[in-house]
This record gives sequence, C-alpha cells and structure tokens, in this order.
Amino acid sequence: MAHTRQTLTNSVVIYASLVFFSAEAVCDGVDYCQETDLKETGRDLLNEHEASYRVVAIGDLHGDLQNAHRVLQLSKVIDENGSWIGGNTRLVQTGDLLDRGPNSLELLDLFARLKDEAENVGGTVTCLLGNHELMTLQGDLRYVSRTELKALAAKTLPAAGDTEQAGNLANGRQEWSRLFQPGQIHGHRLRSDREAMAVVGEAECRTLFVHA
Ligand SMILES: *[C@@H]1O[C@H](CO)[C@@H](O)[C@H](O)[C@H]1NC(C)=O
Repeated sequence: MAHTRQTLTNSVVIYASLVFFSAEAVCDGVDYCQETDLKETGRDLLNEHEASYRVVAIGDLHGDLQNAHRVLQLSKVIDENGSWIGGNTRLVQTGDLLDRGPNSLELLDLFARLKDEAENVGGTVTCLLGNHELMTLQGDLRYVSRTELKALAAKTLPAAGDTEQAGNLANGRQEWSRLFQPGQIHGHRLRSDREAMAVVGEAECRTLFVHA
C-alpha cells in the first residue's frame, strides 16, 4: 500500500564535480520517498507511483554548464535537450552556480527555466544561496570567470569595433554588476528566489540542505 515509509537513504544526494561518476550508480539503485499523511490529505486514492518522489541534490556547479547538463541527465531530471523529465522530483541545487567557470549566467537561466518546467508537472526546484552568489551581491567579483567577463564586455559593446575595449575586463565587470542590480532579472532572482537553507522531503526523507 502507498503508506510505506522508507529510509533516509532514499534521498539521493549527488555532489556534482565531486563524485560525478558515481552519480549513475546512485540513480540506478534509487528508491522513492513517499508522501506522508495520504489519508489525512485525502490523497489515499493515489496509487503508490503517483505518491512517490525522488529528492535529488546537486552542489557547486560553478559556471560549468557542460557538467551541469551531464549530472542533470544522469539524475534523469532533464533529457538530452535539457527539458525537465523529472516529473515530481524535488531537485535541490545547494548554491554556488556562479564563478570560476565561464557559463554562470546560463546556469542561472537554466535553473530558472527548470523550476518553471518542474512546477508545471508537480516537481520542485529549490536553489540555495551559496557564498559565491553572496559575493556577487556584495560586489566581490574576484572569482567571476575572466572568459565570461570578456564575453559579456564583447556582447555589450558590439558596435565599438574596438577589440581591446570589447574584451576589457573592467567593462565586463561593470556589465556583470549591472545585471545583478535588484531591478535586473539576475539580480532579482538572487534576491527573491534563493533560500539560505531548505528542508525537503517528508518523514524519513526529511532532509535539511545548506550550503557549506
Ligand atoms: C531532442 O531534439 C532533437 C532535435 O529537435 C529531436 O530530434 C529529439 O527527439 C529530441 N529528444 C528528446 C528526448 O525529446
């Protein structure tokens, strides 16, 4: 019956980049968490499959879009084209999408899109605030990828025709700072859609996530 409660090991925790290659093995053996209080909420008519879900957590992706796609695919929450196929999976990204790698902004866009797609089919995507998101909000851009800054400068000054100017890191930093102002989409997201910590799952699957 649908009311079986399973153990904490049902929460699949994947730390991207750290144990990337063991992710597949973890996912192959995955069990499912069960929604609790099905009777109380009148959901006891649901079958076991509908009432079960996975908790998938992915850590520091740091501007690495390629490995983000790989780990999300291995976790079976996106397909080869990057569309959400995770159904009612509860995906947690534990912070640090930004800095180091050259695709930080694309990662922010990716997770915002996945959140919309997941919520349309009963899933959730929770992004935590990492220290690198905080650094950008505090104007500390030391770890922003130089490649990403130069690309940003080139993109915002396309008409200049001055490659030195277009590739200028200072221009890139200025544009980065602008994108993270409160009224801009990236700045708004980091201020409105980032938890410092999150509790995800019920009963034995109940798990506290923080960025450490
Ligand atoms: C991914 O996109 C390609 C090209 O549009 C398409 O042929 C393929 O079927 C898509 N794959 C999935 C899993 O939807």
